[in-house]
Amino acid sequence: METNILYYGDNLDILRNNVGNETIDLIYLDPPFNSKSDYNLIFNEPNQTKSQAQIKAFDDTWSWDSVASANAYEDLLVQKPVLAEFISWLSSQMGNYKSYAAYLSMMAIRLVELHRVLKSTGTLYLHCDPTASHYLKLLIDQIFGIDNFRNEIVWCYSGGGIPNNDLPRKHDIIFRYTKTNKYTYHPEYRSYTEGTLQRGRTKVKGIYAERGLRKEGTPINDWWTDITPIHSPTDPEKLGYPTQKKRALLERIIKLSSTKDEIVLDPFCGCGTTIDAAEHLSRKWIGIDVTWLAIDLVEKRLIKTYGSKLSNYQVIGRPYDYASAEKLAQKNKKEFEIWAISLLGAAPREYDGGVDGLLGFAEKDGKMRKIIIQVKGGDSLNPGMVRDLKGTLETEKAAIGLMITLRAPTRGMSELANHSKPYHSDIWNRNYPSIQIRTINDLLSGRGFDLPTTQSLLKSARLARESSTTKRLL
Ligand SMILES: C[S@@+](CC[C@H](N)C(=O)[O-])C[C@H]1O[C@@H](n2cnc3c(N)ncnc32)[C@H](O)[C@@H]1O
Repeated sequence: METNILYYGDNLDILRNNVGNETIDLIYLDPPFNSKSDYNLIFNEPNQTKSQAQIKAFDDTWSWDSVASANAYEDLLVQKPVLAEFISWLSSQMGNYKSYAAYLSMMAIRLVELHRVLKSTGTLYLHCDPTASHYLKLLIDQIFGIDNFRNEIVWCYSGGGIPNNDLPRKHDIIFRYTKTNKYTYHPEYRSYTEGTLQRGRTKVKGIYAERGLRKEGTPINDWWTDITPIHSPTDPEKLGYPTQKKRALLERIIKLSSTKDEIVLDPFCGCGTTIDAAEHLSRKWIGIDVTWLAIDLVEKRLIKTYGSKLSNYQVIGRPYDYASAEKLAQKNKKEFEIWAISLLGAAPREYDGGVDGLLGFAEKDGKMRKIIIQVKGGDSLNPGMVRDLKGTLETEKAAIGLMITLRAPTRGMSELANHSKPYHSDIWNRNYPSIQIRTINDLLSGRGFDLPTTQSLLKSARLARESSTTKRLL
């Protein structure tokens, strides 16, 4: 089984085509929760006076009428008819159940695959919240068998918004299932409470009183209060990726249910917290995400955190030549744009006033200047596009405008770009073309833009530090 791989694509296809039966030791999944929200990646924009800039990372709204839901339901009819029947019943109910039915079809068919790839000694942790946890448990009970349910872990935290008329919802649910009743488990211990330490074990606790206190402490419970979520903007782990989990949470899970060199899979890996924790703990890993934003962030996070110590890894599904770039452009225009922007290490921006991406650079006066980027993945290119870019350069008060095209630009476009007034950089004491065009082929073969030294605007993870998860539970 090949490991240390980031797959860019839909986890259902990747599980079916690339992951063999009973090959994985530990699966952690933190799928969308059916929260009916959009989740945005936040980044810093130079000279931004209003709120921080953002781009949609993924959405979490499910529709029963979508092709994906219909396909998932059809597959379920064959593989788990009982669940298909349940989901069909749910979708026929009044209210918002159709959206739940679509969400559960998507989840059920993936859980069937995850059960297939898990080793007989393996464990699956499904992270969710009270929005759909009750329905998800029904699915996993059917797929894994009710006897293989081990724990409902309640991860408690505080912070964030407080509603006026309801109790604040401040916990997530993490279901723990094993494939069989013979499974890897390394208990984690916490210190005894002050009371127990002073008293010792009392007679009430019978036989234990004679044995005294265990030197390793007492095993942690199924409710965890000692790991804070990433809420604070100054949290050193914060990457700006929505729903990012704390590394200590994943380290705990990985230590509980796997051993060094075993294989950890996260099929909804987001910005890669599981992958980071697995690498840190010398496990092998596989991460899958359907958005390039996430895969790109995981790769950058790993490189920044581990540098030359990072294990050899592969990214599968990343366009690497003209044909694969064209395929992505045809499949999903937005994903193509985000991938093209990532070739420059730039931050993507939700389509807004004709800017697809941004870079910044510092000038002699100590202030940042903006470089705006437009991506053209379509067939028809014309000089009007360069005129638009020039106009946007002015409205955005940017120094330089870049255009990345899939096809070769027309002669008229190149001429317009070449005749634009250059930007003079005081700090580098030279001129730069203020409008520049490169094709995807140029960028892939190393013919980049002519720019002052730029800065990425994505928040970056600090170097990994040993994270302490051994504080006492309340
Ligand atoms: C809740 S986030 C995971 C966050 C992650 N635990 C972290 O700490 O960063 C869910 C992720 O699932 C991804 N996703 C949604 N549907 C997917 C699919 N069908 N295949 C692969 N990834 C998917 C989304 O792009 C998103 O990054």
